[in-house]
Amino acid sequence: MVEKRELLYEGKAKKLFVTDEENQLWVEYLDQATALNGARKDQVLGKADLNNQITSAIFEALILKGIKSHFIRQLSDNEQLVTKVDIIPLEVVVRNYAAGSFSKRLAIDEGKKLNFPIVEFYYKNDALDDPIINEDHVKILEIADSQEIKTIKAAAREINSVLIELFDDIGIRLIDFKIEFGRTADGSILLADEISPDTCRLWDKETNEHLDKDVYRRDLGDIVPVYQEVYTRLKNK
Ligand code: TMP
Repeated sequence: MVEKRELLYEGKAKKLFVTDEENQLWVEYLDQATALNGARKDQVLGKADLNNQITSAIFEALILKGIKSHFIRQLSDNEQLVTKVDIIPLEVVVRNYAAGSFSKRLAIDEGKKLNFPIVEFYYKNDALDDPIINEDHVKILEIADSQEIKTIKAAAREINSVLIELFDDIGIRLIDFKIEFGRTADGSILLADEISPDTCRLWDKETNEHLDKDVYRRDLGDIVPVYQEVYTRLKNK
């Protein structure tokens, strides 16, 4: 049994602890919701368990499709064990339908289906407010090299295909999502972080109801029953 040791890092929605295993970290999800780069912050009881359970279920489904990630196993309702990686400071966003910042930037109605899925890069940098960047910026900033960018884009597209089908089976349209990657001790690239209603836009296929963090971002109501609905559908799949 792995032992939890000291706190390594505290993020907006998770705490990371080192363990007695050099290459494994202990993740604790927090009952916290944030928006506007942390400027808005609320305690949301039940969110930690739901995001941990949903992320664990999704990473397990990805593993079954041959997609590797940092996920090792779920430890408890709000904890999981992961492989230690150095996070690459990129938010990799895949979009199937227009929404959010894409709709705003380009004046395209939310919900418009894109002709093909697009992959965008945002530079993870709070002081700069996570600006959108292109592949040349990624190389110039030495965030990743050409080969790594290729690997990341191919993985993002493959993950998108698996997630579209996974959510379609439970009556949900995958509008867009954000993923992060990290480098392991041997330099290979692994999917990391989380995949949950915090990091995806999920619309009910029949009603277009938002089943994701936009409920919080846009003040549409309580997110706990909404996240619970996603988890219940995934569990009963
Ligand atoms: P955006 O439309 O605001 O750029 O968001 C695109 C997707 O990325 C959406 O599913 C929400 C997710 N996302 C995050 O997970 N974290 C973030 O910090 C941002 C800006 C978006």
